[in-house]
Amino acid sequence: MRIGTTLTNYIIQNQRHIEGATGEFTGLLNDIAVACKKIADLVNKGALVNVLGATDSRNVQGETQKKLDVISNELMIEALRYNGHIAALASEEMDSVYHLPANAPRGKYLLLCDPLDGSSNIDVNVSVGTIFSILKAPDGVTNPSEKDFLRPGTEQVAAGYCLYGPSTMLVLTTGHGVSMFTLDRDFGEFLLTREQVEIPVDTGEFAINMSYQRFWDQPITQYIEECLQGADGPRQKNFNMRWVASMVAEVHRILTRGGVFLYPCHSQLRAAGKAGKLRLLYEANPMAYIVEQAGGAASTGLERILEVNPEEIHQRVPVILGARNEVRRVDELHRSEAG
Ligand code: AHG
Ligand code: MN
Ligand code: MN
Repeated sequence: MRIGTTLTNYIIQNQRHIEGATGEFTGLLNDIAVACKKIADLVNKGALVNVLGATDSRNVQGETQKKLDVISNELMIEALRYNGHIAALASEEMDSVYHLPANAPRGKYLLLCDPLDGSSNIDVNVSVGTIFSILKAPDGVTNPSEKDFLRPGTEQVAAGYCLYGPSTMLVLTTGHGVSMFTLDRDFGEFLLTREQVEIPVDTGEFAINMSYQRFWDQPITQYIEECLQGADGPRQKNFNMRWVASMVAEVHRILTRGGVFLYPCHSQLRAAGKAGKLRLLYEANPMAYIVEQAGGAASTGLERILEVNPEEIHQRVPVILGARNEVRRVDELHRSEAG
């Protein structure tokens, strides 16, 4: 498609690839884009409009909510609630499924989102983002319950993220490759700036929070050790390291110039009863779908992320994603440990 095409035109023209899609899918993506534009505006204005800092509340995961976490969640709901494109919504910032008001028209899609990813970066003016995953509601279900959301990532009909960085970019897959759009603030539209994004199969750059090194399991310890030994070790090449602490920014870097990202489970998380840090349904799955659509891989170390069967809405998973050959190496180390 022509570079510079608006997101709306792009979706209308691509909708025909989605089985059973009507104008509702275009409407839904437009609603999401509107919410993202409003969030982008607030992230951009920051202290000028008093949106930085924390609230007094914690979310269901026990994390202190930032003002912008709460506002972004409200903006997503507001953009979707009465438009008749979704049947229900689930979000990192809400304990349970958000049910539409009784008088709101029902649509056939389910939306899962992380309204603002990377919230520790909000107050320090570093890139943050919004992540979303779209499923179809089961036929005939107009008031979905939590179990209707508990489906493997392979069932996503679309996924994307919006990155609030030096430019605001919306990155989208509907299962036919990955396209990137950049927000033109002069006329308020996302315009297509890159299509058929491909992640190089090899890389010399990894991203992991090294401060947890002493808590890692053996396969992760060995993988990172191999990278750190660089040209003198078994990999026979040097690796560089990055850690933004906003998954959206890490995935965007990987889509742009390659790399591998790891947020493994470690003994400290396990001791707190967690299987990882990142959430399966609205962080790992949408990012795994995008990365696979760009020719990369996404794994828990033991299985393909998209094939994990969810048991609850805020479930966590270990995440290893990006360059295919690196993810395969991490998988291999997990397999040899399992014997
Ligand atoms: P969120 O702000 O939505 O809770 O997610 C933050 C996530 C992810 O974006 C990032 O990769 C990771 O947490 C950062 O974790 P550390 O603080 O351990 O670096
Ligand atoms: Mn997040
Ligand atoms: Mn978040």
